[in-house]
Amino acid sequence: MKKWFAVIGDPIEHSKSPAMHNAWFEEMGIDATYIPIHVTSHQLASAVAGLKTLGANGWNVTIPHKTAIIPYLDELDELAQKMGAVNTVVRTQEGKLKGYNTDGIGFVRSLEDAVGTDHKNRSVLLVGAGGAARGIAFAMQQQGYCDLTIANRTVANAQAIVDEMGMGRAMSLQEAEETLADFSIIVQMTSAGLATGNFSMPFSLDRLTSEAIVADIVYNPLMTPFLQAAEEQGATIVTGLGMFVHQGAIAFEHWLGSYPNTNSMIAQLKAQLGGN
Ligand code: ATR
Repeated sequence: MKKWFAVIGDPIEHSKSPAMHNAWFEEMGIDATYIPIHVTSHQLASAVAGLKTLGANGWNVTIPHKTAIIPYLDELDELAQKMGAVNTVVRTQEGKLKGYNTDGIGFVRSLEDAVGTDHKNRSVLLVGAGGAARGIAFAMQQQGYCDLTIANRTVANAQAIVDEMGMGRAMSLQEAEETLADFSIIVQMTSAGLATGNFSMPFSLDRLTSEAIVADIVYNPLMTPFLQAAEEQGATIVTGLGMFVHQGAIAFEHWLGSYPNTNSMIAQLKAQLGGN
């Protein structure tokens, strides 16, 4: 029987997930389809019941439902539990709904795709302490990164993640700016300026060294002001596109058991987003 998958969110029309998953199904000869479904917060309970009744094999969850969906699920994997957020639901063979969070591991795969896996002992500066940052911090810890510092506008929010991880340290954005040369890997995860579409910098990168690796989790635009400034300083940059593609690929693997081709998808999306 044809399998079907979905992404639920509000808004949903700009999601690139349906095109990505449908392209993978076609490429891999899998008889399945993936559709976007607009679900408001008021509709979440009935939407989950509907997806279950109608036999969806799994679905992705995006803003604003990543935390709100948890009470409707039967099980959570360890990382989703720790993060308190789910972006992927799998309907198991027994008909149970299991929630995963593939965002953080998606980021780690993207980073390791770009720069290799031999950086786990290097000093990492995570900039931001919101939902996305929590996910990446826990995933990096789980994957063996052992020197994590979180800098945030509200230091208490960074300290709360450090306390939950039981490792690392928290600092202000100003302290991060002043000690930037001490860090090998820097990850921009704040939403500074996102809402207005007018991206601003959380701090200046004047003290960045050219040996640093600098990543941003935003992929549209591909070159954020943070990455542009890092490139000007000669650093290696990692755009947010790889994270988006890998979080989708990990969800795909949870649903169907195989890992799709991420390199060609990243190249296709990069061309669409105006990169080269
Ligand atoms: P997300 O789910 O994308 O992580 P979020 O949970 O709303 O979004 O978190 C937003 C992050 O961006 C937080 O780290 C926030 O800092 P605070 O904890 O101090 O609020 C950070 N942020 C938002 N606007 C910012 C700005 N103008 N300058 C610096 N940091 C900003």
